[in-house]
Parts: sequence; C-alpha cells; structure tokens
Amino acid sequence: MDKKSELQKISLEIESCKICKTAKSGKAVPGEGNPNAKIMFVGEAPGKTEAKTGRPFVGRSGKLLRQALKDAGLSEEDVYITSPVKYLPDRGTPTISDIEHGKTHLQKQIDIINPNIIILLGNTACVAMLGSKTPILKRHGEIIKKDGRKYLITFHPSAVLRFPNKYKEMFEEDLKKLY
Ligand code: URA
Repeated sequence: MDKKSELQKISLEIESCKICKTAKSGKAVPGEGNPNAKIMFVGEAPGKTEAKTGRPFVGRSGKLLRQALKDAGLSEEDVYITSPVKYLPDRGTPTISDIEHGKTHLQKQIDIINPNIIILLGNTACVAMLGSKTPILKRHGEIIKKDGRKYLITFHPSAVLRFPNKYKEMFEEDLKKLY
C-alpha cells in the first residue's frame, strides 16, 4: 500500500474510533498534507473551525501557522499538519487520557510519513511525543532526539496569536531552524 492509502486507512480508523469521540464533538480532524513530508507539525486539538471543516489549523491560529511556515520558506504542500487529539474536546483543553489515546493514532501517522523532523507546537504536543510537560519559553528552539526521531520544540500558534509582542519573533526564529 502506498503512503497516501495507508494514511487514509488511519483517517478511517479515527473517524470510527469511539474512544477518540468521548467528550468531544464535530468532525474528525485526522490531519492533512504531503504523505512524503520531511517536516511534520503537531499541535494540540482541533478548535471550532477545524471541527466544522474536518481540516487541521484552518482557524485563526492555523492562519498564523500557515503564514509563518511560508515566511520560513516552506510550502504547505511539502509538510504534514496534525494534532495528537483528533476531535474538538467539549472542555476545550484535552485531558491527559485524550492525549494518550490520540497519540496512538498520531504515532501510526508518524510511522507512515517517517519525517526527518517533527515540530512540537506547544506543551500538549510535547506531552504526547516527549512524555512530559515542557516549559516552552525555556526550551523553545531546542532540537531533541528521542526513540530515533528528531523533534523541534516551539510555541503553539494560539499563544503567538494571543501575545504576538512576546512570542512572534521567537516562533519565527525557531521555524528558521528547519532549513
Ligand atoms: N489547534 C491545534 O492544536 N490543532 C488544530 O488542528 C487546530 C488548532
């Protein structure tokens, strides 16, 4: 099976996953992008716009992310964008068990795509992939190797959207490390 079909199979798994849907609503948001991407972006959980459309990062913070990656010289067509949690949590913020469960689907997506580097957008992505809370302000820009994978820690775009004066420049600098 080619990567595209393998990813479609995971999307179908997510769409019919009862555990994923617990205390959540809207459409499944499995992720989108190039199945052969060398760079993968991992966020937190879909927001309202994502849950309406079934597409990741298409709301306000998504626009900021997509613009920032263009500014860093990347093309949306070359990357894969997803989140550990695949549905909009009723409470907005995902629980640890939401992250733990969603990660099982995310790990399969990562294994299929096999990117050179995974950008961890904020603490939820770090909890999912590094297994622990991470002080983003202190650790952003760090490249970590774990279990044969390479990760870059940076801010979640919603934090950048809320406090542009504080985080925007650092976020943009972090993304330049992808060259
Ligand atoms: N924020 C995320 O973390 N993921 C999305 O898919 C959308 C917004």
